[in-house]
Order: sequence, then C-alpha cells, then structure tokens
Amino acid sequence: MKGKFIVIEGIDGSGKTTQINQLSQWLSGTDLIPENNQLVITREPGGTQLGKSIRSLLLDTSKENSPDSITELLLYAADRAQHVNEIIRPSINKGDWVISDRFCGSTLAYQGYGRKLDIKLIKNLETISTQGVSPDITFLLDIPVEESIKRRINRKDDRIEKEGKEFLSNVSLGFKALSKENKWKKISAMSTKEEILSEIQSAIKNLTRIK
Ligand code: TYD
Repeated sequence: MKGKFIVIEGIDGSGKTTQINQLSQWLSGTDLIPENNQLVITREPGGTQLGKSIRSLLLDTSKENSPDSITELLLYAADRAQHVNEIIRPSINKGDWVISDRFCGSTLAYQGYGRKLDIKLIKNLETISTQGVSPDITFLLDIPVEESIKRRINRKDDRIEKEGKEFLSNVSLGFKALSKENKWKKISAMSTKEEILSEIQSAIKNLTRIK
C-alpha cells in the first residue's frame, strides 16, 4: 500500500518547524504508519544533497549572486524535481509517510503572488517537476504578516525574507487564496501549540479513514 504525503505551508515565521516536530512525535507513537515503514521528514528547498546546494544558491544574500525571478523559479523547480524523484516518490511507493516543509504551494505563493510570475507558467513547471506526485493533505499555518515580522526580529533574514512587508503580504494573500481553491486545511498559527497539533491530528485521522 502507498504511504501518505503531508505538506505544511505558511509564510516565514508561521511555526512550521515546531509543528512538524510535534506532528512527527505524535505520528511515531501511533499505529497509523505500518510497522515496517517509516516517517520521512523533509523540506524544500534543500531536501536532497543536490537540493542543499540549490538552496544555498537561492537564499544567498550577496547581491552579485542574486538570481533573476525566472532563474529563481527554475531553481525551485529543479530542487523539487530532484526531491520528488530521490525522496518523495520512492518513499510513498514503499509505504512510508512523508512530511514536507513546503512544496508546490510555496512556489505559487512566493513566485506567483509574490514575484507576480505567470501562474500558468508556474503550473506547467510544476507538472514537469512533480510528474504527478501530489500531497494527500496540505496544511496552511496562517499568521498575520505583522506577527511573522515580529517573530523573526532576532533572526538573520535570507534573501527571500529580505523582500520586506509588501512582498510578504502578497505571498500571504496568495497562500489564503490557494488554500481556498485547493481545499487545504487552514489553521490559525496564533492558536496554542497544543490546539494546532490537535487540529492537525484530527485532519490526519480523517484522511486515513477516508482513504
Ligand atoms: P524555508 O526553508 O521555509 O526557510 P527557513 O527554514 O529559513 O525558515 O524557506 C526558504 C525560503 O524559500 C522561504 O522564504 C520561502 C522560499 N520559497 C520560495 O520562494 N519558493 C518555493 O517554491 C519554496 C519551496 C520556498
């Protein structure tokens, strides 16, 4: 039997890492994942060895290394193609469960709504890089842009995070629109850690009941 593919999306500072840690602890203690299978925790960009090099090209803050928007889009797509082929598809095919910190939704939100690149072009590239692999469920951790900025005040910004408030607002609007359009599970990341986990847990239990 195929495994499950769970994706967590959200703007920077929405608490994806904390939630993924909580979720993986909970999942490992349940019998939802078959005994001979494992839970794979991964991320984009940078889920593979090659992807780590692509990630540093993408997030490098030095001006002279800055990719233009189309190059940026292609680098995220290349990272994804490698990630899908090396990690996600083989894992799901052998029955493992995969949790990915970001996936195609991030490209639509950041490069589509943020950079204003053509959504159709992004979707065409998505078809190429995923070859039909898509999440069983996507969670959007939703926080106000002001809160995202506040939470990251003592952190060093990467190149994308340096784009500033207007860019981030567009990304945030994009995520909300995508969430509606694609029936993602949107969760307020202003709730407590426990409340967020509990919402994620019930959605995952539902998922295993239906499929
Ligand atoms: P992330 O790993 O979430 O950042 P961190 O772990 O440092 O909080 O993501 C890195 C950045 O890449 C983030 O600002 C969002 C951006 N991004 C895109 O612009 N497009 C994409 O397709 C993806 C996957 C990420």
